[in-house]
Amino acid sequence: MGKFSGKTALITGSGRGIGRAIAVKFAQEGANVIVNDLHDDDNAKETINQVTATGAKGVFLQADISKVENVQALMNQAVQAFGQVDILINNAGVEIHAPFWEVTEQQYDIVMNVNTKGMFFLTQAFVNHLRNTNRPGVIVNNSSVHEELPFPNFTAYCASKGAMQMIMRNLAVELAPLNIRVNNVAPGAIRTPINADLLSKPELLGPLQNNISLHRLGEPEDVANVMAFLASDDAKYVTGSTYYVDGGLAYHYTEQ
Ligand code: BGC
Repeated sequence: MGKFSGKTALITGSGRGIGRAIAVKFAQEGANVIVNDLHDDDNAKETINQVTATGAKGVFLQADISKVENVQALMNQAVQAFGQVDILINNAGVEIHAPFWEVTEQQYDIVMNVNTKGMFFLTQAFVNHLRNTNRPGVIVNNSSVHEELPFPNFTAYCASKGAMQMIMRNLAVELAPLNIRVNNVAPGAIRTPINADLLSKPELLGPLQNNISLHRLGEPEDVANVMAFLASDDAKYVTGSTYYVDGGLAYHYTEQ
């Protein structure tokens, strides 16, 4: 019996990266897993393969969560797949590197629509599903150290994660009477495709590692482990919090 036996978890953006590690971890803990991503491609198939290899059930649902009309359909399909959804992991996220003075409206919209609008309205669809079926639930958002920490050249990304922090805090209060807990995980620098450019350039990677107290990047599984804790009854008294999984990056400071 795992932490999530008999439970169904919907994990957005779980075709690869941290999302895939969360899907596999939750499957290992006995959850039925709904894998969602923008494309039904080899990455998505690989996540499903890794989920089902644990003995758990996995279903892939394609959806672009940046469009509000898609998120209700995604929640409906998720409910159809396993009869109910108990856990929502808002993991899908994008970032675009650009100096502030060059950011276009389109770049701003992509970042805000995936990271903030998508999680906002998918969470709304989930909460309405729980209200309609009169059941408790858990929401964990994959935020970032940049819900708190400045990140030059990523102002839209920081705005989207700052919004995620306040959405989480607000919902923790508003949804507590419905027995719904809401928390964020704030990863630092994790070895995933979002960092592909950085990982391929030693001249960028070296200084970054020096800024991390543990002097190394994190692995997707490091984030998935904390997600599983927060989504489980082990954290039944935890709501309205952000858990940092950053090797000490956010508040690293040294003087010679
Ligand atoms: C970003 C990464 C960045 C890390 C640490 C994450 O939120 O996605 O690109 O390396 O924060 O700054």
